[in-house]
Amino acid sequence: MRTKIFAHRGASGKYPENTMTAFKQAEKEGADGIELDVHLTRDRIPIVIHDETVDRTTDGYGFVKDYSIEGLKKLSAGHWKGWKFRNAQIPTLEEVLQWMSQTSLTLLVEFKNNILPYKGLEHKTIDLLRKYNMLERTIFSSFNHESLLKVKQIYNGAETAALYGKPMASAAHYATSMGLDGLHPSYRIVNEKLVHELHANNIKIRPYTVNSPQVMEVLFDWQIDGIITDYPQRANEVLNRM
Ligand code: G3P
Ligand code: CA
Repeated sequence: MRTKIFAHRGASGKYPENTMTAFKQAEKEGADGIELDVHLTRDRIPIVIHDETVDRTTDGYGFVKDYSIEGLKKLSAGHWKGWKFRNAQIPTLEEVLQWMSQTSLTLLVEFKNNILPYKGLEHKTIDLLRKYNMLERTIFSSFNHESLLKVKQIYNGAETAALYGKPMASAAHYATSMGLDGLHPSYRIVNEKLVHELHANNIKIRPYTVNSPQVMEVLFDWQIDGIITDYPQRANEVLNRM
């Protein structure tokens, strides 16, 4: 099976991360899926941004959780990446789904609830996915593994994958005992033995954030299920010449 390419925060290498511009570019570059990060606004709307604060990726400052949707929409989410992107806004998850449901892309949603808790984040996200008929082509991920258990409780058919950055003693056993469908480790801690161990246990593996063509080649050679990359076009080029 061909390795799937997930565009990390969209085609975020060259375009402003987690914006419609970056997501649409990822589709043009042949990504199979799009990874994005979700928080809740003060008025409890699922919103797509990476950090807990707006400081790094917008012209505003402060915590996402303290902004209303109206306030967030006034910020530029693209200016920091270049003047030509100055009109890019922070998208709501619903805006992304309105567009994505018209494509054949897979959604890789990451709940950003490992630093701040967002009560109801899983429920609200699943409700939106159901509304746009996207539940069947969504993978739920988080560094907060309890949150993934909650996802399965809400929607038993959910595909879940745990994010982690440090090696685990028995990754396959952990995934199986947690009822996870996949693991998304940092590429730095992936080796061929881990890939075999997970596949033998029917667990998918999709490392993040793979931007080097050399690392891509090695992972593709190991028949990895997917990679999460800022450069989907680069990943496709590497895959196509193998
Ligand atoms: O989905 C993998 C990756 O997005 C996890 O790290 O910090 O980029 O959200 P981060
Ligand atoms: Ca992420």
